[in-house]
Amino acid sequence: MEFSHIPVLLAETMQGLAVRPDGIYIDGTVGGAGHSREIASRLRQNGLLIGLDRDLDAVETATERLRGFPAKVIHSNYSEIRQVLQDLQIPGVDGVLLDLGVSSHQLDTAERGFSYHADAKLDMRMSQEGLSAYDVINTWDEQALRKILWEYGEEKFAGNIARQIVQTRQTAPVETTGELAELIRQAVPAKYRREKNPCKKTFQAVRIAVNDEFGHLKTGLTAAFDCLKPGGRLAVITFHSLEDRIVKQQFAQWCAGCICPPDFPQCVCGRVPRARLIFRKPVTASSQELEANSRSHSAKLRVLEKAEKRGDERFS
Ligand SMILES: C[S@@+](CC[C@H](N)C(=O)[O-])C[C@H]1O[C@@H](n2cnc3c(N)ncnc32)[C@H](O)[C@@H]1O
Repeated sequence: MEFSHIPVLLAETMQGLAVRPDGIYIDGTVGGAGHSREIASRLRQNGLLIGLDRDLDAVETATERLRGFPAKVIHSNYSEIRQVLQDLQIPGVDGVLLDLGVSSHQLDTAERGFSYHADAKLDMRMSQEGLSAYDVINTWDEQALRKILWEYGEEKFAGNIARQIVQTRQTAPVETTGELAELIRQAVPAKYRREKNPCKKTFQAVRIAVNDEFGHLKTGLTAAFDCLKPGGRLAVITFHSLEDRIVKQQFAQWCAGCICPPDFPQCVCGRVPRARLIFRKPVTASSQELEANSRSHSAKLRVLEKAEKRGDERFS
């Protein structure tokens, strides 16, 4: 199956990263190499693009698509950026891009078990190894299921759906995306079922849990920031409010200066900003992009630049 994925906010991301021709860049979510090719095509002299992905299908495709460019593609989780750079003996980079979530290729490949639009064995593993959606749905207890549906899906019928999952699997395991979709429909009120697809939030929540997306995002943001040279840039594209909140809060912390109460005559906290925001507000898709690519509807791009001088050590 052809790897098809339209990169979102491409021009805006390039503007945000302000690629230096001799710079070293990491695309931590290389996918189909849409963003990576654009970065790599701007590199000259000793410039290098390092593409990472936890999915071997993406690694294979990106390796092919980046042939002839100054690029290396590595099978790795972006939360392991430090180790990757250490292995390559690269002390720091000029920019890191994280384009979060799943690719269209992963969603559209039915047998990867991500989608409620096709019936396939429950899977949802980006890395194609370890804990799967089948394991989560068939072994986690009702409370743990309710918790992820609520926290990672903001599903208001989390309790009903978790109960229905546990009841259903008492007879036989829930094997497929189709079976999960059907039991979600049974668990929610008819009105909700008619309004929107009632499966979206549960599928999102299970996918986040299976891939520990928030855990890797939190670790990966800090690791990426630490690997930036002074003046280096970090660009992150998010697709839902939960992951955007993690990025927004972490960026705000790095960009914050003095936190002394306003009535203090002088600063005693000693905190100085470790970064500055490149765009004051998150960048969203233009009307042309919204028309051309439905995935761009929820996309938000945030970019920061690491300060030239490191801030106070107390600022963590
Ligand atoms: C939205 S797609 C990226 C698309 C890419 N920017 C392009 O233009 O083709 C997200 C990719 O990131 C990968 N991914 C998600 N989380 C990851 C992680 N923690 N570490 C490495 N890769 C990850 C997924 O496997 C997927 O291929």
